[in-house]
Formats: sequence, C-alpha cells, structure tokens
Amino acid sequence: MQEFTFYSPTKVLFGPDAEWQVGQEVKRFGGTRALLVYGGGSAVKSGLLGRVEESLSQSGIAHQALGGVHPNPLLSLAQEGVRQAQEFGADFVIGVGGGSAIDTAKAIAIGAVNQGPLWDYWEQKRPVAGALPVGAVTTIPAAGSETSDSAVLTNQEIHVKRGLSCDENRPRFAVLNPRLCATLPAYQVACGATDILMHTLERYFTPPAQNQLTDELAEGLMRTVLHNGPLAVQNPADYQPMSELMWCGSISHNGLTGLGAKKDFSNHQIGHELSARYDVAHGASLSAVWGAWATYCLPVNPARFARFARQVWGIQESDCQAAAQAGIRATVDWFASLGLPTSLPQLLGRGPLAEEELHQLAVGVTYQGKRTIGSFRVLGEQEIFEIYRLANR
Ligand code: NZQ
Ligand code: ZN
Repeated sequence: MQEFTFYSPTKVLFGPDAEWQVGQEVKRFGGTRALLVYGGGSAVKSGLLGRVEESLSQSGIAHQALGGVHPNPLLSLAQEGVRQAQEFGADFVIGVGGGSAIDTAKAIAIGAVNQGPLWDYWEQKRPVAGALPVGAVTTIPAAGSETSDSAVLTNQEIHVKRGLSCDENRPRFAVLNPRLCATLPAYQVACGATDILMHTLERYFTPPAQNQLTDELAEGLMRTVLHNGPLAVQNPADYQPMSELMWCGSISHNGLTGLGAKKDFSNHQIGHELSARYDVAHGASLSAVWGAWATYCLPVNPARFARFARQVWGIQESDCQAAAQAGIRATVDWFASLGLPTSLPQLLGRGPLAEEELHQLAVGVTYQGKRTIGSFRVLGEQEIFEIYRLANR
C-alpha cells in the first residue's frame, strides 16, 4: 500500500424521509441562515424543496432559495449565488438536487468567503482559504458530490469545464433518500450508474499498488453497480436497487475505493472536454470514450484488465489477453444496454468528427499543452488524440 490520507467527514443521513432532518443538521453544524440551491425545477415539482424549507423553518433557520442550475453547471450562476449569499448573510449553503446543484452550492460557499474572481480558484491561481459549510440533499445517484471534495464548473465564456478539489468542498452532511430518485428519467439514471462505475474504474486502473482490501472494495462496489444499475434504470421507483445505487454513488467518490494507490481520471478529463464543447451529459461523455481508452491502454497491464474481467464480470477465461478483452467488451455492452452512447458519433448524434476537431479536443484536455493526464498510462496530446480517434466510429 502506498501512503494515503483518508478524510471523509460528511455525515450521511440515509433513508425515506431523511430530508426532514435538514433543519436540525444545519442547526447542529452552527448554521442560522441557509441559501438553498436547486436545478431546473424537479425538486420544486416533487415537493422536495418545500419539505426542506419547512424543515429549516421548524428549526428556526432563515432561508432563501436560488434555482436555475443547469446540468454542467455554469460559473455565471455560481457568481450570482455568491452575490445572493453575501446579501442575505448566509452562513450555510445547501445543494438540493444532483451534482450540478451541489457543485454550485460548493462554489457559492467558496466564493462567499474568498476574495477575487471565482474562476481564479478553479484555475488554481489562488488557494482556497475557508468556505461556508455546505449540506447536500441528493436526488440522483451519480456524481457523488455529496461526499466528494470536488466541485466542477463550466466557464461558458471560454468553453472550459474544470474541477476544483479541496477539503472545503466536503459537505458537512448528505441526505440520501432513494425515494427522491423515483422521478428520474431513465437516461439520467443510466448516466448516473455509469458515472458511479467510472469513479471506481478511474481508481482501479492505476499503476500497480498491491492493495488487497482496496481492490476487493472496488470490485464489490462495481459488481453492485452492474447488478443494480439496470434495475434502477428500468424502474427508478424500485426502492431496493435505487438504495444500493445511491450508496455506491457516495462511496465511489469519497476516496475509499482508491486508497493506497494513485488516481487516474483520464476518462473524466477526456469527457469533460466533450461536455464543455457540446454540453453533453457527464455520464454519456464517459460511456462514449471508455471503450477507446481501455483498448488504447490495455497493453500497459493486460493482467489488470483480466482481473477486472474475472472479479467484476465473472468471466471464466484462462487466457489473460482474451479475458481482458472480454471484460472491456462486456463493459461497453453494458453501457449500450442502458441506452448510452459508446462512441463520439453516437454521443453527438452526427457522423464522425473531423480530425482537426479531434486535435482541438486533445489540445483542450492538455490545457493548451501545459499538462498530461492519467497515471495508469500517462497521456499527452498525441495519445489523447488517438483515444478520441478510436472513439470516433
Ligand atoms: O435540474 P433539475 O430539474 O433538478 O433536473 C436534473 C437535471 O436535468 C435531473 N434530476 C436530478 N434529480 C432528479 C432529476 N429529475 C427528476 N427527478 C429527480 N429526482 O437530472 C438532470 C441532471 O442533473 P445533474 O445534477 O446535472 O446530474 P449529476 O448528478 O449527474 O451531476 C452532473 C454534474 O456533476 C459533475 C459533472 O461533471 C456534471 O457537471 N461531477 C461532479 C463531481 C463532484 N462534484 O465530485 C464528480 C463527477 O465526476 C462529475 O464530474
Ligand atoms: Zn464523474
């Protein structure tokens, strides 16, 4: 095992009606004035926002709500949220919704107490020094933002999507009520299940690290997602599979399934560039490129892919190379069975992209040549271009 720090301070409140505990939790963590942040209206329509507001009122917490968070959330709304938080005197920010609402809440919490342009923090031009405390009421098992240290924003003026990771981003509490997910469209559940799987895949395909427990945890989580994801897609109101998926979502991105090893996260970087340019759903951006990434990176460590195939997919194949390829195929087929794209043309609903467009994407991923990505295989502009090219059919 390599050295690690495990810090996952988020208090998780799981179960039906858990949202009624929001008021008392805000109070417990010292809040008195909460800014609620939500998306395009699903939380209003389901009555969730009203219940959260009532819970806050019952605990004597003043509150104000800011809606309109877009999937692939925008810097501009977060900036507006900072203004409102300061004007209202908020001392707590609560995201009600998916990763987009929760990430916007995190960004507002940072902007409310740090000086200067908000985007500077996402460009790592300034270090984050404190933030308002954040709470999360999750309505989709997907991004894992409710327990993660990350917040992802899109700067719409320059078409850049970027994550910021810091301890300040860890929510104080997270409400997980699987019943809140009953109203989800099948496509969003499929995107979410894929994102959850990917958060562990990105920690599983890393340089060799000899982590027995971490590997077993990761494999168990991935098997749970593969089994329950399709059931949740078929019927989001089915409490049991949605429960499993939701808990996987929080564990997959709180750090646990990668302890003692480096992270990779190449697919996320390659996918973020697609979301930034074409505004595609995060999970779909991942399913569209993972098969290409895996095929390209397979030669680095076929034994690792074979282990994945055997332990996660139960593939009985003694030949290492054949098992590895069968595992990749099974995963790509699983994405397709959920109705997700497994190539760039499928993702964008048009013919293959021109090579020049693929080059621009690859340059964008490297921040104009300023960085490489990944650890399982370190990828520069040319390698990223090759992966986009493999995904372009
Ligand atoms: O906006 P509303 O009306 O709420 O509708 C949303 C949205 O259209 C809808 N939805 C959510 N819960 C629902 C529901 N519709 C009906 N019933 C419900 N219960 O689903 C759509 C997608 O919502 P969104 O919040 O965008 O989904 P998700 O949780 O997948 O979040 C995606 C964002 O999180 C980022 C992604 O890049 C993307 O920007 N990520 C954040 C991470 C983090 N903070 O740790 C890590 C991830 O890797 C990811 O990058
Ligand atoms: Zn993700």
